[in-house]
Amino acid sequence: MNSTAIDDYLWFCERVLAKTGLDLRQYKRPQMERRLRSMAERVGARDLQEYWAVLEKDDRQFAYFIDRITINVSELFRNPEKFEELRRVILPQLRQLGSPLKVWSAGCSYGAEPYSLAILLEEMRPLTYHILATDVDENILNKAREGFFAPEDMRHVSPEWRQKYFIHHGDRYQVKPELKRNITFRKHNLLADPFDTGFHLIVCRNVVIYFTEDAKDRLYARFFGSLVPGGVLFVGSTERIFNYRELGFEMPLSFFYRKPAPGIRKAA
Ligand SMILES: C[S@@+](CC[C@H](N)C(=O)[O-])C[C@H]1O[C@@H](n2cnc3c(N)ncnc32)[C@H](O)[C@@H]1O
Repeated sequence: MNSTAIDDYLWFCERVLAKTGLDLRQYKRPQMERRLRSMAERVGARDLQEYWAVLEKDDRQFAYFIDRITINVSELFRNPEKFEELRRVILPQLRQLGSPLKVWSAGCSYGAEPYSLAILLEEMRPLTYHILATDVDENILNKAREGFFAPEDMRHVSPEWRQKYFIHHGDRYQVKPELKRNITFRKHNLLADPFDTGFHLIVCRNVVIYFTEDAKDRLYARFFGSLVPGGVLFVGSTERIFNYRELGFEMPLSFFYRKPAPGIRKAA
């Protein structure tokens, strides 16, 4: 096809949206387009229309494509100093809001994040909790449900917690069933699907890096609506929300944004 005649990038995005519900136009174009064109080249397609024809015919190529555009990199207790602040400062405050604590790990990848949260919450028993763990990528959710981790995922997990919460199989670690008990894994697209409400904590880290500024603003406003007063949004360590005040949040600690509630101290 003549790629100057139509914008094959937008054409491709529309096909992906119709087939998967994933709207690539809400991701930053330069990075997304570079990634798509290099995947197209890899299978010998000259443009994105030809690449789409390949994807339509080959399910394995399609699965690979979804895997690559969603980028699933993670690890347990990613940025351990922030998880330590969550454990030491934020969770004890949230505990005062009620029980069970309702937590959402949005963009949970293969489960390292929700299982890290489950460990911190197990350590707070008799507190009760429920974690909703969502991702747009069904394949990665299946991995998350199994709860297997490589040694590289485990580098911030203390020997005590390895022993307490994991079973060591050869060179892999699997979470014990008690850590899965309070987690529900569910497919969910942050750019399209309705949001649940009543959360005390929403963790959305390293997911929005490729979203446009508009898509991020809409997302943070929707997270605000899903939190209870006093509830906290925890974001990734490169994802400072500069306009947090405009969105209605206060910031008890860097990368933690709280929906104000009467009676909760402003500073941590
Ligand atoms: C880099 S991983 C982050 C995993 C974990 N939150 C962490 O910080 O380690 C990004 C995840 O976001 C998911 N994702 C990307 N776009 C999404 C969307 N529109 N809705 C829900 N999840 C999405 C990807 O499938 C991927 O698993």
